[in-house]
Amino acid sequence: SAQTIQLTVQPGDPKLVVSKHIQGQFAEHLGRCIYGGFWVDPSLPVPKQGRIRMDIVQALQKIHVPNLRWPGGCFADTYHWHDGVGPTAQRPKMLNLWWGNTLEDNSFGTHEFLELCQLLGTEPYLAANVGSGTVQEMSNWMEYLNSNEDTPMVLERRKNGHPEPYHVSWWGIGNESWGCGGNMTPDYYTSVYKRYATFAHDYPGTKLRRIVSGANGDDANWTETCMKNIPLNQMWGLTLHQYTLPTGSWSGSKGKATGFGEQEYFNTLRNALKMDAIVAKHAAIMDKYDKDKKVALLVDEWGVWTDVEPGTNPGFLYQQNSLRDALVAGTTLNIFNNHCDRVKGANLAQAVNVLQALVLTDKEKMLLTPTYHVFDLYQVHQDAEYLPLQFASPDYGLGSEKIPALNASASKDKNGAVHISLVNLDPHKALTIETALPGVSWKTVTGRVLTSANVSDYNTFEKPDNIKLAAFTGAKKHGDKLAIALPPKSVVVLELK
Ligand code: AHR
Repeated sequence: SAQTIQLTVQPGDPKLVVSKHIQGQFAEHLGRCIYGGFWVDPSLPVPKQGRIRMDIVQALQKIHVPNLRWPGGCFADTYHWHDGVGPTAQRPKMLNLWWGNTLEDNSFGTHEFLELCQLLGTEPYLAANVGSGTVQEMSNWMEYLNSNEDTPMVLERRKNGHPEPYHVSWWGIGNESWGCGGNMTPDYYTSVYKRYATFAHDYPGTKLRRIVSGANGDDANWTETCMKNIPLNQMWGLTLHQYTLPTGSWSGSKGKATGFGEQEYFNTLRNALKMDAIVAKHAAIMDKYDKDKKVALLVDEWGVWTDVEPGTNPGFLYQQNSLRDALVAGTTLNIFNNHCDRVKGANLAQAVNVLQALVLTDKEKMLLTPTYHVFDLYQVHQDAEYLPLQFASPDYGLGSEKIPALNASASKDKNGAVHISLVNLDPHKALTIETALPGVSWKTVTGRVLTSANVSDYNTFEKPDNIKLAAFTGAKKHGDKLAIALPPKSVVVLELK
């Protein structure tokens, strides 16, 4: 008989909130994320506003995307914003040198991106070009967007159809400055950062959130140098990029997105679970320099990175998305929730048609991935009070290795409803959980579940609802306790009220 896991939902501290920005998204000029994704050919028979694809917009409206990062990624450090404003036909073209050498026609620029953000009701998060741009170029972009005085920049914005300032507050100063953003040493980057940040001005009604381009994976030295060299009042946030590769290796095959066996499944989860220790490591360094936790840690690129789908352009990073991706997403969001004292934001890479996407398209066809459904489930945590959990997970073992089968997080929303998100990574065994909630008074429990027959199952354009959310009936109230039968390989979110 299965052992019963004792789980306690502990009282929270009303001041500690799960920032909605943990559920942020990322849209780079890469493959078919923007062109052929959000921004389509006028002749494509889909609902559109201008060239913005509205079925995608509607799907993303439903999950309340809190912020959208743009235009990159590596692309950001090659991008010259001024080429992407003004009459479309007059915009110069450029080569997208990082991603497939495609010809970028700059038809999707700043105004188009901000229109998309407005449709989504989301906070724009821009990445300024530090690698191949100038301080002047960045500060002009800020003035163009945020000032309301009669300067040449503002006059140009008005001429381009936007009389009022846009009030863009989130600014990344460079991207992966240790790599595609300029191959800088941390000491060199922090000097460059301070120079850029000095000319990144607030404007009336827009207080900037200046964001430092942070570490690659577990590079502690990068974080340490940033925290040591940059005054706290010059940075609102510091980023971290951490991807999950099934094989764990950047050279050779990264592993398949579908059609994998249990060993590859296990390895992927083991690699994804490293996020917890990596976040803890950077958070501990930040604590040394910023004990009041003023600086946000933003994991502004994360997700599963596999080999591309056979027959697709290797520079486009197009991959399928299985139940395994959903389990990684649920697990990762639980990790972020459980570090919400420091992690105030994160961005899945990427929203449409790239890496661990929420939405895939094939011409006019579109599907929502299993990962999308996890974000749908988890939106109840947005800006809710964090509730710590206590439990000991049984192991899921394969060969000589093991990982915890269960991970979870919980929060209380402003109406007093408690939400518990649970992930069972074991593909074979259900978990029996008995939950105590001291101090919570509740009458009913409801829930939704995401699961499928196989961890490698996925949605196709022919069967887009192969994996979808269903009502969950495995939770019962017994006195003041909650009994949960958590199916194998599942993500469940419960609501108690
Ligand atoms: O998300 C794809 C790429 O991964 C981004 O452009 C870059 O920042 C990272 O290396």
